[in-house]
Amino acid sequence: MMEEELSTVAKSDIVQPLLLWFLRTARDLPWRRTYDPYHVWISEIMLQQTQMDRGVVYFKRWIDRFPSVRAVAEADQQEILKYWEGLGYYARARNLHKAAKVIAGELGDQVPCDYKQLLTLPGVGPYTAAAIASVAGNHDVAVIDANVTRVYARLFDLDMPVKDSQTRKRIIDMAEYLLPHGRARHYNQALMDLGGLVCLPKNPRCLDCPLEYVCRARQAGTVAERPVIGPGKKIVTVNRVAGVIRHGERIFIQQRRPEAVWGGLWEFPGGELQNGAAEIEVVRHILAETGLGVRVVSPITTVTHHYTRYKIILLAFCCELLGRNTQAVLRSAVDFRWAVSAELKHYAFPAGPRKILEHMKTTSPSQSELQLFQDFR
Ligand code: ADE
Repeated sequence: MMEEELSTVAKSDIVQPLLLWFLRTARDLPWRRTYDPYHVWISEIMLQQTQMDRGVVYFKRWIDRFPSVRAVAEADQQEILKYWEGLGYYARARNLHKAAKVIAGELGDQVPCDYKQLLTLPGVGPYTAAAIASVAGNHDVAVIDANVTRVYARLFDLDMPVKDSQTRKRIIDMAEYLLPHGRARHYNQALMDLGGLVCLPKNPRCLDCPLEYVCRARQAGTVAERPVIGPGKKIVTVNRVAGVIRHGERIFIQQRRPEAVWGGLWEFPGGELQNGAAEIEVVRHILAETGLGVRVVSPITTVTHHYTRYKIILLAFCCELLGRNTQAVLRSAVDFRWAVSAELKHYAFPAGPRKILEHMKTTSPSQSELQLFQDFR
């Protein structure tokens, strides 16, 4: 099959220009300086679902604070989550923490480069294992992520949805066939960089592409139609309400269960908006969630964020504690604090509550009726 796929081009017509292009143009990314397996591991986990520019900022901050696997293993989960705050998909951070404990406890503080051993670590699947084995260890393992898939779909003008198992198998076969022995580190990163910088989903820069003359989609004029994407999952809208409960100088935050979505992170209590008025629903949810009696003082803002296939619209209200009982009886959360604004920077919040806090910080107190946020930076 490979011979048929490549009937008009030689393997070297693809491999050589790509390697030369990478050697000429490779981005100076911090983990590319030494290819330390610990650095490569952190970068690969961070770069899943995260743009490169953002990934680099978080990576540098992370390595400053956690210069070794042992430093990660010995850190408190709250601090790990705080350093991950804003990257989303927090299971990545929790798994990274678990894996660091395994590496520090059982693997002599060395992040392995062996593909099969890597697969045994929490949070390391076939993609990440292949990336670490090849980028850090230069082992002959092909890496296939969304960028690489797009490059191959165009290079071979694949007209079937790339999510189909048959198409995936074809791409894996091609990637393994083309992988130049002993050059996996550069070849794989060349493909990833090409997908990230040149062979872009929209407006690809074909004139700058080292593979322009061997690209089947370029020849056929089908670049814009490749890769073929199958029917997408429908986005589901969820309306929620949350209350920022104040009591004197303090506000109430609660910590999510470890196994929940956003596990270990902090939030404001609330729940799904059913059919009733939002102001009434938020009071009802807070009572059920925390046992605290509150009244709504004012609306704060509405924030929208996306989580997998959900679009979450969150209506936030400023609430006031009724009575003096501050002792919450938690239903779904595992811990709570009555925090003054200066303390909030020590807690990690998911996107929704973080946007609410940002709004309160940047809106004049007369608008939000909250004067609690002057110290929160
Ligand atoms: N995306 C994820 N890992 C990468 C790497 N090593 N080089 C370029 N882009 C990447």
